[in-house]
Amino acid sequence: MSQAKPWGGRFAEATAPEVERYTCSLDVDRHLAMEDIAGSKAHARMLARQGILSEAEAQAIVEGLDRVADEIRAGTFPWRESLEDVHMNIETRLVELIGEPGRKLHTGRSRNDQTLLDTRLATAKFVRQWRQALVELIGVLLARAKEHCETLLPGCTHFQPAQPVSLAHHLLAYAQMFRRDVERIDGLLPRVEVSPLGAAALAGTTYPLDPAAVAAEVGFGAVFANSMDAVADRDFLVEAVCCASIIMMHASRLCEEIIIWANPQLGFVRLPDAYSTGSSIMPQKKNPDVAELMRGKTGRVYGDLVALLTMMKGLPLTYNRDLQEDKAPLLDAHATVHASVRLLAGMMASMEFVPEAMTRALQRGYINATELADYLVTRGVPFRDAHHQTGAVVAYAEGKGVGLEDLSLEEIQRYAPKAGPEVFDALRFEAAVSRRNTPGGTGPAAVAQQMAALEMWLEAQGEALGVSY
Ligand code: ARG
Repeated sequence: MSQAKPWGGRFAEATAPEVERYTCSLDVDRHLAMEDIAGSKAHARMLARQGILSEAEAQAIVEGLDRVADEIRAGTFPWRESLEDVHMNIETRLVELIGEPGRKLHTGRSRNDQTLLDTRLATAKFVRQWRQALVELIGVLLARAKEHCETLLPGCTHFQPAQPVSLAHHLLAYAQMFRRDVERIDGLLPRVEVSPLGAAALAGTTYPLDPAAVAAEVGFGAVFANSMDAVADRDFLVEAVCCASIIMMHASRLCEEIIIWANPQLGFVRLPDAYSTGSSIMPQKKNPDVAELMRGKTGRVYGDLVALLTMMKGLPLTYNRDLQEDKAPLLDAHATVHASVRLLAGMMASMEFVPEAMTRALQRGYINATELADYLVTRGVPFRDAHHQTGAVVAYAEGKGVGLEDLSLEEIQRYAPKAGPEVFDALRFEAAVSRRNTPGGTGPAAVAQQMAALEMWLEAQGEALGVSY
């Protein structure tokens, strides 16, 4: 038993079965098998170029690893829990398949740098997938915004009706958040794509390795600068899962709005059947489960981040077995974020907005009160007085159960004597929106500018706009 393990040489007794189970990481790291094989192929080729292996040996290793990859894809690979992790499973199988040359693959390498290369490769792949999904989501939000430049709804502060805004502007606020998420990923990638191979266990190695060549072969732009840091560092992973957390945070806010908007008391949206579920007992129900679950799963991704931060806290240099716990949070965050962003894009693309319901809501809540105050200022009333007079008009209208626009001029003048007949123009919701054309505002010209800038950005992202939502 003990001899079967690659590290079994100095052990006389077999590992306790519970220990084997406890220390085994196969359930998680087998998902990184293709990354492991890609890294090993690059390592073998580099060893040959450096004269450490013969060309024939490297060739045999590369071909053997391809056979291993085929077995894994075909589901015939003999995974063995006793072999601890993906790395030793693959290496052991390689030796079974090709014999002696396979035993030379691990020259100048440790599992410490190997496992990290795999994790870095997987992280780079995952965050690129999030990026692509985000770009598609932004494309959907932009397309929906274009349809709704004229649709107005109450913008809220404190979740109370505040001022009218266009639905386009509201949706674009989310597009801007997700755009920053893309930019965060772009900033992160150069710190992910750093090859640790060549750091060996922790101190570097005596073999004349060429770490830069390995890095280039796996598509990474940089090589570690310090072998100890190289095997101990996981902050790229913390950053990636932090990016994931921020993406989920943004998604959860949009989901929350969808949930509120879908409530029949507001009725701003009708959920697509494909993205809702019914109740087993209440026949009238159409529940926003996808949005709710996404809101809920946000906590799960935050949990992944906290797990990583806690795992890293206070760890002395360099590799510690604690670090084996790094991959589960990554895989979990990836599965959650990637599925969530894609679903959110699909849901936003097929969501039906109900402008009439939004208009009805505009008429409740006195969200044109700021307009009255601003109008009075144009009539020479100091803003503080205008604010006070407007408050009195609102209180009066509220007592009467009507909107400001429903009052007569005489009624308004009772509290705001400077008001003239043009006051009713100022009270129009459309006017309130169309006057706000300062950069980044909700006015149609400002929103058009915002959309043009976002469209240019999206075009620069290449693939994105081809999406046919
Ligand atoms: N399965 C281990 C991990 O993921 C691989 C590295 C093991 N290294 C060691 N020195 N035990 O961290």
